[in-house]
Amino acid sequence: MAKDIKSDDKTENSSDRHTFDRRKFLGTAVGLAGAVAGASLSANAQAQPPGSGAARPTPPEFQTPQLFRLESDVHDCQVTGKIPDDLNGAFYRVGPDAQYPMNPRNIPFDGEGHVGMFRIKDGRVDYKTRYVKNDRWKAQNEAGKILFPMYRNPYMDDPSVAGLSRSTANTHIINHKGYLLSLKEDSPPAALDLITLETVIPNYTFDDTLPSQTFTAHPKIDSQTGNMVAFGYEATGFGSDDVSLFEYTPQGELVWNAMVKVPYVGMLHDFAVTENYIILYVIPMVIDRQQIQEGGIHWAWNDSERTHFGVVRRDGDGSDMRWFTGPTRSATHVMGAFEDGGRVYVDVEMSESNPFPFMPMQGGKQWDPVRGTSYITRLSADMNNRNVSGYDIERLYDYMGALPRQDDRYNTASYRYGFLGTRDKDAANPRQANAGYVRMDNATRTTEFWNAGAGTSLAECCFAPKRDNAREGEGYLMGVATRQNENGRGDLVILDAEHLSDGPVAVVHLPIRATGQIHGWWVPESQMPQV
Ligand SMILES: [Fe+2]
Repeated sequence: MAKDIKSDDKTENSSDRHTFDRRKFLGTAVGLAGAVAGASLSANAQAQPPGSGAARPTPPEFQTPQLFRLESDVHDCQVTGKIPDDLNGAFYRVGPDAQYPMNPRNIPFDGEGHVGMFRIKDGRVDYKTRYVKNDRWKAQNEAGKILFPMYRNPYMDDPSVAGLSRSTANTHIINHKGYLLSLKEDSPPAALDLITLETVIPNYTFDDTLPSQTFTAHPKIDSQTGNMVAFGYEATGFGSDDVSLFEYTPQGELVWNAMVKVPYVGMLHDFAVTENYIILYVIPMVIDRQQIQEGGIHWAWNDSERTHFGVVRRDGDGSDMRWFTGPTRSATHVMGAFEDGGRVYVDVEMSESNPFPFMPMQGGKQWDPVRGTSYITRLSADMNNRNVSGYDIERLYDYMGALPRQDDRYNTASYRYGFLGTRDKDAANPRQANAGYVRMDNATRTTEFWNAGAGTSLAECCFAPKRDNAREGEGYLMGVATRQNENGRGDLVILDAEHLSDGPVAVVHLPIRATGQIHGWWVPESQMPQV
């Protein structure tokens, strides 16, 4: 177990470095980049450093391997095992799928959103995928080419698309008010039909009430009220340091909003919500205006900048925002968060440096795969002590990986169980470590691991409760497996979340490669339209 450190210590890079093992990493690289690349990393893949300055050509292993573009319908999929009687609903996924050949200097985050659905009902599974046909998709479809050639750089856009939403809608997906919202954090969502996946409202602004020009890819559902708590950064315009915080009822009524400022304009990909607080985390993936002017992407990593952990009350006007300063770190996804005794705790995937090999490094630094490896880490701050300016950092588990999940009914409540796509940390040959899913029990600090076997890579997992009132963690963990020895054919694996090591209770076989996924979302039968 890694030793705890205090974030006030700027010399952090030596205090827990012993737990980063370069040899081990080379066999276990897994994370966001792999997920975005369609889970196409082989077990011993190692990314090449992209160098510094403007965006460089994307390393081969992270390039879109081919244009997929296949919108598909597979009825009554072949299943090995048995779909559980108490698993009814839909597992939605979304990821980038480049509509036309991308600019080779662009990054895989910028492919157009392609939504997939595994509709699971009465022991049968149908599979359907559709592009998000928003303003961007329609304009490019008409032109027959890419018109938005660089990730979050409007200065590179074709003049014909001036004023259109730049959203790829490719990052996350969530149901709200009878719609499926497909999310990209630089824009409002697109609203899709939950059954047909057709795009109903290309630029969904919550009946013109959205108090932000942007909308996070990671809204949280309040565990008590069912309200959706969300935020938008760069909220008042491109590159602005304003962050809009807001909360909608399930019926779409805006019940609270406030505006705060961040210490610097950096990536705020995810956030945390507890009963009383909203917690933001600003990382040194900073806006690089010179790089943008030179035709590069929005972000670059500043390896000398510090992180900021900000806490603000949910019911206030934002003026109580309190920033705690910490060492250089990256943290992009929250597993869960809670309050206890006046402290706020946020469990995140955390790395020492840039986790994305295709994101430029400022200052001529080289991307470091060891310092870019993430572990589940607990951040906490004492809200009762006005004299504290830093936050505490504790690594919780030695499984590496990104894209942690929880039982989403506990988004804003104290939680016990987390889940993570990872690799076998005990493999005899770390270079050949198999992928798998792990359940983390925060009460006992114990884990249970399912080894997916050789030749398989895994997308982010998602938890589905057995019943709406099931106890925490009582349900199924599911995710898409890519069979590398079968030309990337996809399977949906379904495991009992309380018995992961027993292996899947059912495997849903696709005859084709599944669309790529960044994130997925489970909608239970009780929230599905009854048609
Ligand atoms: Fe994300």
